[in-house]
Amino acid sequence: MPVTTQQLIQWKQQGRAIVALTAWDYAIAQILDAAGVDLILVGDSMAVMLGYKTTLPITLAEMLHHAKAVCRGVQRALVVVDLPFLTYQESISQAIHSAGRVLKETGAQAVKLEGGYPAMVETITRLVQAGIPVMGHVGLTPQSVHQLGLRQQGKTQETAERIFNEAIALEQAGVFSLVLEHIPADLAMQITQKVSIPTIGIGAGSHCDGQVLVTSDVLGLSERQPPFAKVYTNLRATITKAVQDYATEVRDRQFPE
Ligand code: KIV
Repeated sequence: MPVTTQQLIQWKQQGRAIVALTAWDYAIAQILDAAGVDLILVGDSMAVMLGYKTTLPITLAEMLHHAKAVCRGVQRALVVVDLPFLTYQESISQAIHSAGRVLKETGAQAVKLEGGYPAMVETITRLVQAGIPVMGHVGLTPQSVHQLGLRQQGKTQETAERIFNEAIALEQAGVFSLVLEHIPADLAMQITQKVSIPTIGIGAGSHCDGQVLVTSDVLGLSERQPPFAKVYTNLRATITKAVQDYATEVRDRQFPE
């Protein structure tokens, strides 16, 4: 059965941990889906796989292109697509237009956008009223890299309170789930206990309702990983060895046999 937003909320109530990873193309999406990942995020962190230094340059057209490929590979997981920088902040109608294109053109079930109270509350309320499921994202928000850097957020009492209140405001605005990125574990735990929607942590400790990582980090494809990522295999080394073996065999005229 395909995973739904309601299913994620039920899993929170049942205490079943939610498994999320990012994907950027058909093959990766197919592998993650067949391996049982519950939620596949076409994250704008894909910018790094496209050679950009931050998530800011990626366009809606690029996100749509990759999201379509991901959706073609997925049968079960819920697919969520990031709205890229400045495709939803200008106005509510811009946000509805961008999110509407994601749902209409890709086959994804939901969008994610960064930011909290007050900036995003009305936008999220209107998207949800229009029938578009929205995932929130607070704490470290990489689209604000030039304001926040990539540091852990919520370390002082004041910033922790702000993030806590943002989480509550986003739940009230109607998000079905919330990404908590790079915040202290006890703050993530307090938010997780307070809200009735599932929290999906990345660098936010073990008390969230689910976890997400960037798949290129997990697979060892990224040039560098954030401190909270776990590298489960080193595909860079595996691919390099395979390519070198192939090159050697071609040069030695061993392949084709
Ligand atoms: O773009 C992305 O991959 C994300 C995750 C870090 C949650 O937003």
